[in-house]
Amino acid sequence: MRINNTKALAEERVNDALKREFRGIGLYLFSVSGIINILALTGAFYMLQIYDRALASGSIPTLVAISALAIGLYLFQGLFDIVRSQILVRVGARLDRKFAPIAHKVAIDMPRFGFSTAESLERGRDVDTVRGFLGSQGPMAIFDMPWMPVYMIFVYLLHPLLGAMTLGGAVILTLLTIINELLSRRLANATQQAVVSRNAVADSNARNADILKAMGFAGRAVARYDKANREHLTLQTRGNDISGTLGAMSRVLRMLLQSALLGLGAYLTIIGDLSAGAIIASSVAATRALAPIDLAIGNWKNVVGARNSMRRLRDTLVSLGDAKEPMPLPAPAKSLKVDKITVSAPANGRVLLSEVNFELQAGQALGIIGPSAGGKTTLAKALTGIWPTLRGSVRLDDADLGQWSDEALGSHVGYLPQDVGLLDATIAENISRLGVTPDPARIVAAAKAAGVHDMIVRLDGGYDTPLGPQGNVLSAGERQRIGLARALYGDPFLVVMDEPNSNLDGEGEQALTRAIEGIRERGGIAVIIAHRPSALVAVNLVAVIQNGRMTAFGPKDEVLQPQRTTSNVARADFSKGGAVA
Ligand SMILES: Nc1ncnc2c1ncn2[C@@H]1O[C@H](COP(=O)(O)OP(=O)(O)O)[C@@H](O)[C@H]1O
Ligand SMILES: [Mg+2]
Repeated sequence: MRINNTKALAEERVNDALKREFRGIGLYLFSVSGIINILALTGAFYMLQIYDRALASGSIPTLVAISALAIGLYLFQGLFDIVRSQILVRVGARLDRKFAPIAHKVAIDMPRFGFSTAESLERGRDVDTVRGFLGSQGPMAIFDMPWMPVYMIFVYLLHPLLGAMTLGGAVILTLLTIINELLSRRLANATQQAVVSRNAVADSNARNADILKAMGFAGRAVARYDKANREHLTLQTRGNDISGTLGAMSRVLRMLLQSALLGLGAYLTIIGDLSAGAIIASSVAATRALAPIDLAIGNWKNVVGARNSMRRLRDTLVSLGDAKEPMPLPAPAKSLKVDKITVSAPANGRVLLSEVNFELQAGQALGIIGPSAGGKTTLAKALTGIWPTLRGSVRLDDADLGQWSDEALGSHVGYLPQDVGLLDATIAENISRLGVTPDPARIVAAAKAAGVHDMIVRLDGGYDTPLGPQGNVLSAGERQRIGLARALYGDPFLVVMDEPNSNLDGEGEQALTRAIEGIRERGGIAVIIAHRPSALVAVNLVAVIQNGRMTAFGPKDEVLQPQRTTSNVARADFSKGGAVA
């Protein structure tokens, strides 16, 4: 209930903000459209003047004068039309500038919560859809529609019966639009879902090119893509059929109406109720009156698409909420407190870690060991704020992680994930975390601390070597050491490393040990998850995580000692990997 309330409030706030941002332009467009629509009566008036004045009087000068006036008015109409479409294109660009960064921020955040890349990137495409729509014919129809009565009144003034017939035509066309809407609403959503599923398959196939090649199942992967693509095509064909059929119906109806108006006009002229000029004028005006509906029907698929995209973008804004920047805090320097945290997987809510409780002081290093799937990586994600805690809190110098902005917290945290994760950028950009004007000295210091400086300068491009997607120009061990340098960059207070030695050789492990010692000496805190004891040389504390619980915590020697019963599991696990150095 409360949640609903706050959601409604957030929605209202976002709607208000959007309205404030675009109201002025909306009014302006509405007025410009009014001028265009009034100028568009030129054709009809011209007909009236030709038939009832020029032809009737047989005066060439009158004909020339009327024609010159009409040409002038047409030019004005064209001018305003250009202005209007330019405004719309700029509104689209403005909307894009406002939404694109937000959409991308959400997109890069969604995978943390179990969404596929394809699904996440759809938000960016929503921005494209809305911008594309604003630059198309669709919005013209929307802005012309309120001015339809001008033409209806014009026709009505020529003759009430003609007015009634035009109105009847408008009602039938509007009904067609409503039918179009009812038929295509659900289909549009389904089609969009199908595109996302297809793109997800494509994304996963492209990512796994190596295994598809080595084990020869690229053909089957393509078949899977083909299946997803066919589902999308089926839906799209159905959508196009609907809009095609209704579009054709509306066009025929309009032509029919136009002829019917001429017929009725002729009849009214024969019985002496109407002038000859009025026949043509009413036909021209009626056509123009119905044009917006016709245009709307023709563009309905785009209207629906843009509307859905806009709704998703608005929901995105709503879900971001009022994220106010927290007040800046001094850099942490004393402690890391993990206060009885319970962590669940954001994607499915499964509890992965229960009631984990411990405290580390500046200068300490904790090694975390335990069987695989025990919850070690989950703990690392909670310590770094990647995953929120369900209960309990993680505190740096007693302040909950939520009290820091992402950016501020990030500068106090170094994280080396299990699968490293390098960006498609240069080595220097990766180490400096995409620093805009990074200090080369700090980059080199971090690389040296990670023992990777010599390797980097041996590369042809040195620190400016581009890493390619997922850093694939490097070996796994090299990637891991660049990842370590990135974690150490800027001497963050807390450094969390998830199996940092899984791909390291002896020399790499020595560098890692020195890095941990370095963190301790400068008064930082290091947390190292390890399955090989060689990573734990420089730690003073060890914890055991298994089955989502912390079953041991204490000085390294005690926890790893055979005599202490609490650490049986740890010892058993470690005995396979060799003795602790
Ligand atoms: N994103 C996720 N969504 C749901 N469950 C997950 C996710 N990541 C890990 N798990 C589950 O959490 C458990 C602990 O995983 P993890 O913390 O990665 O273990 P460890 O690092 O100790 O090997 C595993 O059973 C795993 O299946
Ligand atoms: Mg793990």
